[in-house]
Amino acid sequence: MALLKETRAPEPTPAQVEAESARLADKGLAALGWRDEDLERAARLTWKINHLKKATRAIVPAHVYQRAEILLGVADFTGDSYKLAKLCAQSDAKRIVFCGVRFMAETAKVLNPDKEVLLPAPEAGCSLSESITAADVRGLRRKHPGAPVATYINTSAAVKAESDVIVTSANAPKILRKLFETNPKVIFTPDAMMGRNLAKELGRTLGSELVVWDGSCIVHENFDAASVEFYRKMYPGVKILAHFECSPALVGAVDFIGGTGDMMRWVGEHKAPSYMLITECGLGDLARTSFPEKVFVPMCRLCPYMKATDLSRVLRALERPAASQRIDVPAAVAQRARRPIERMFELAEDSSPA
Ligand code: 13P
Ligand code: SF4
Repeated sequence: MALLKETRAPEPTPAQVEAESARLADKGLAALGWRDEDLERAARLTWKINHLKKATRAIVPAHVYQRAEILLGVADFTGDSYKLAKLCAQSDAKRIVFCGVRFMAETAKVLNPDKEVLLPAPEAGCSLSESITAADVRGLRRKHPGAPVATYINTSAAVKAESDVIVTSANAPKILRKLFETNPKVIFTPDAMMGRNLAKELGRTLGSELVVWDGSCIVHENFDAASVEFYRKMYPGVKILAHFECSPALVGAVDFIGGTGDMMRWVGEHKAPSYMLITECGLGDLARTSFPEKVFVPMCRLCPYMKATDLSRVLRALERPAASQRIDVPAAVAQRARRPIERMFELAEDSSPA
């Protein structure tokens, strides 16, 4: 497929910059503490990006860990890994400029082989995704013949191609429960913490029933369970939510565990004096702007991969994409990777009792 032509955005007029700065402020950047000069600098870029999106029939999906100016200023939709994969599969856009990390953009490409998919920050990987290769999955299958492989979406297309079903933090317990209905043993890759959390939730024995790979997320692996009690004393009544990728010790000490989408929903559905979201900091920014009436106690870490995307790189991808920003998945791999992703969609949306 040929690359789309280079398309430069016009320069916004001073009045357009002013109006765009006001829009960004209202969207929530002012509430997050952005100063006028920072809003104006961002506005010059968001105005051009939004102009080019229309001109080139592009969409910008953004994961909730992205920078606030991306989530609030240019994203067409934001969400967790599941929602982004699903919406990309349904989109009729011509090109997808994915604000997230490589495995997410690859998933979008697998589901949209005929569209141009661009990743503004080509080096945006993921420690989980990098922990396992396609050959490792084949090795697990040889060691545990007959056991189905459920793979977390945070993996390369090549690893997905070797898997039976993909899962995300939003549906892993449901899908694994279904797999256990017909299989005594299931392989889960690559997140060891999440695997241990799943074994506990499903009442399965690690190793003999649930075989788990040894990958970890550099953001979630270091949150400390001991600090939870300290924060409970400091903020009486605080509700503490943690991502599924955190350690089982921490997960055992909090009020709710789940993926980012579930965490946002839980906050929306509960009344508490304050909330703590133990995950990447982007979710806290989004929560503060989505629920301005609620109080959030900060306790987060930055993901260097997620934060590698900024407005200037998004603009570059739209105006004159570098070869390194373009996502290509070999057709044979894409074909095999698509099947377990579609199996996830079917199982996640299947409402028959597990
Ligand atoms: P979800 O948003 O799907 O919960 O995933 C979190 C994550 O780590 C993405 O990199
Ligand atoms: Fe990967 Fe963790 Fe960053 Fe998500 S937060 S992209 S799992 S390193």
